Amino acid sequence: MAVKRIVLFGAPGAGKGTQAQWLCDALELTHLSTGDMLREAVHNKTQIGLRAKSYMEAGRLVQDDVVVGVVVEAIGKAIRATPNGYALDGFPRTLPQAEALREMLAKRNENINLVILINTPDEVILERLTQRRSCADPKCGAVYNLKSKPPQKEGICDVCGKAVIQRKDDKPETIQVRQQQYRRDTEPLVEYYKKAGLLVDIPGGGTMYEVAGRILEALSRHKG
Ligand code: AP5
Ligand code: MG
Repeated sequence: MAVKRIVLFGAPGAGKGTQAQWLCDALELTHLSTGDMLREAVHNKTQIGLRAKSYMEAGRLVQDDVVVGVVVEAIGKAIRATPNGYALDGFPRTLPQAEALREMLAKRNENINLVILINTPDEVILERLTQRRSCADPKCGAVYNLKSKPPQKEGICDVCGKAVIQRKDDKPETIQVRQQQYRRDTEPLVEYYKKAGLLVDIPGGGTMYEVAGRILEALSRHKG
C-alpha cells in the first residue's frame, strides 16, 4: 500500500474523530487529532496546555504557532512509528496552518494525498454534539453518543473504565462560537484544497457505517 497522508476535514461535530479512528484501525495509520493532543496538554498542565486552555474552553481556535509546533512534532513521531502513514483530524484549520503543513511536507518531497471533507448538515451536527460524551481521560479519548453510541455501562468508559463526561466546549453557546470560527477561519480551506485538486466531498449524514463506506469508496477511487 502507498503511504497515506490524509486530512479529515469538516465542521466541529461533523464526525472527523469518529471516522478517523475507524479509518486508522482499518488501514493501520496513526490518528493525529490536534484536539486530542491539546486536551492532553491541558490535562497535564504543560506550557502548551496553559496557553491553549482558555481558547479551547471558549470554543476559539488556539494560536497557529502553538498548534503548528505540536503537529510538526507529532508527524515526525508518526512517520517513525507507522510506515503506512497518518490521518490528520482537526488540522489544518487556518490558511497559515495549511501553508505550514505544505512547506513541512515539501521539505521531504511529500504532500497530502487526500483531503476528505465530511459535509454534515448543521442541524445534524447540533444534535450530535449535544448528545456527545467523552472519556474524562484525554489519553484514552474514547467518544460516545447518548443516542447513536452510548457506553455499555452508563457514565463509564468501555475502553478504560474511567468516567464519561460532557466536554466543556459542547455547551450550546460554545458550540455556536466553534461553528462561527469554522465558517470564518477554516471553511476557506475548502477552496484552497479544491484548487490543489486534493478535496473529496463526502456527505456526513446517515449512520457511522454509511459515512465510513463513502470514505472507503472515495479512497479506492483515489490513485496513490
Ligand atoms: P477538536 O477536538 O478537533 O473539536 P472540533 O473540530 O470542534 O470537532 P469535534 O471533535 O467536536 O467533532 P468531530 O468532527 O471530531 O466529531 P465526532 O466524531 O466527535 O478541537 C477542539 C478545540 O481544540 C478547538 O475548538 C480549538 O480550540 C482547539 N484546536 C484543535 N485543533 C486546532 C487547530 N488545528 N488550530 C487551532 N485550534 C485547534 O462526532 C460528534 C458526535 O457525533 C459524537 O458523539 C459521535 O459519536 C457522533 N457521531 C459521529 N458520526 C456519527 C454518525 N454518522 N451518526 C450518528 N452519530 C455520529
Ligand atoms: Mg473530534
